[in-house]
Amino acid sequence: MSSVLIIGAGGVGRVVAHKCAQIPEVFSQICLASRTQSKCDQIAAEIRQKTGRRIDTAQVDADQVPELVALIQRVKPVMLINVALPYQDLTIMDACLETGVHYLDTANYEPLDEAKFEYKWQWAYQERFEKAGLMALLGSGFDPGVTNVFTAHLMKHHFDQIDTLDILDCNGGDHGYAFATNFNPEINIREVTANGRYWQDGAWVETQPMEIRRKFDFDQVGEKNMYLLYHEEMESLAKHFPGIKRMRFWMTFGDAYLKHLEVFRNIGLDSIEPIEFQGQQIVPIQFLKALLPDPASLGPRTHGKTNIGVIAKGSKNGQPVQRYVYNICDHQECYKETHAQAVSYTTGVPAMIGAMMMLQGHWMKPGVWNMEQFDPDPFMAALNQHGLPWVDLENDIDIDSLPE
Ligand SMILES: NC(=O)c1ccc[n+]([C@@H]2O[C@H](COP(=O)([O-])OP(=O)(O)OC[C@H]3O[C@@H](n4cnc5c(N)ncnc54)[C@H](OP(=O)(O)O)[C@@H]3O)[C@@H](O)[C@H]2O)c1
Repeated sequence: MSSVLIIGAGGVGRVVAHKCAQIPEVFSQICLASRTQSKCDQIAAEIRQKTGRRIDTAQVDADQVPELVALIQRVKPVMLINVALPYQDLTIMDACLETGVHYLDTANYEPLDEAKFEYKWQWAYQERFEKAGLMALLGSGFDPGVTNVFTAHLMKHHFDQIDTLDILDCNGGDHGYAFATNFNPEINIREVTANGRYWQDGAWVETQPMEIRRKFDFDQVGEKNMYLLYHEEMESLAKHFPGIKRMRFWMTFGDAYLKHLEVFRNIGLDSIEPIEFQGQQIVPIQFLKALLPDPASLGPRTHGKTNIGVIAKGSKNGQPVQRYVYNICDHQECYKETHAQAVSYTTGVPAMIGAMMMLQGHWMKPGVWNMEQFDPDPFMAALNQHGLPWVDLENDIDIDSLPE
């Protein structure tokens, strides 16, 4: 029985709040706080209607450590689930240390003025969390998150050695807009317009954005173009599984999405450099965000499925092995359950499960940790129970020989 404080009332925060509310035996008290309290109140009203449970709400600016500390001291949670933006990770970790509260997030810290996400800032908190007897679980979403746990599961149950790992993220959903992003547009556009990068023999190999493409036939979605990009879980997986020789991350994009991005890029609308506009400083990508549909509004309009998984090749007892573990999630089913589409759902459910792993003691250890550093079994079992069932199959797909 534990009290949790959730920070961030966007698409992911909505799912985390709904899912925690479904398990009162683990999450006995829930407070949802965000910059805009009315968003928390709306989610609280939905939850009351669906489950009959009351959750508390609050307003907080998570960029301000004193505000966070005051809120935590009032709510007195055992742990904090950070599903605000990556820019708030460090202030929230500071507030957790000051108040003696465990921490979890779904995305690694990224400075607001530099499009560069890395774990180094958060890994630097290791000693402080350990000394305080507190735990911080990093990246407990789907990717990062479940993809790290899938890798740990494969390593534990099927391989002595993984030689190559390919992480495949397909969103086959259609929301009917010419262009919209499924989660925070600023974060999303910054991620996909960055150079690609993959891990090969102990070093990163850089590519141009969207330079490498393959056609892949995704189960229950169909054939899609997927593009190699850099993704944050590869940094921690390369560190914790140093035997993996090559690791790549692939994400699907439709042609219309890429055409819009190209135009935004050509005219500088994706820039994070402030410009002067009618006597005011504005950041182009933030202006673009204001024009785009709110990701939280996509839920009712999005049909189709996501398919996200991991293909590993390697050996066990000297014999070659290749396996594919993946989850398929249906946008409309997610919406019926939590008023959010599958991209928010596939992030929010693992955040709730990560918190449950910590509160139930399966994964409780002082320090700062990534998902693959814990026993994958209880987490994998919880995925099956809480809305993200997976399959683990033998497989012989050779991504390198697929058409471009
Ligand atoms: N690991 C994964 O698989 C994965 C996948 C998708 C997303 N994510 C991560 O999940 C997180 C949430 O994504 P989302 O799609 O829910 O984004 P979102 O819809 O933009 O929601 C973010 C929420 O954070 C709140 N917020 C922002 N700045 C704040 C501040 N200074 N103080 C308090 N609250 C603040 C916003 O506040 P208000 O609206 O209240 O103003 C908003 O409700 C992001 O970090 C994203 O990178 C992870």
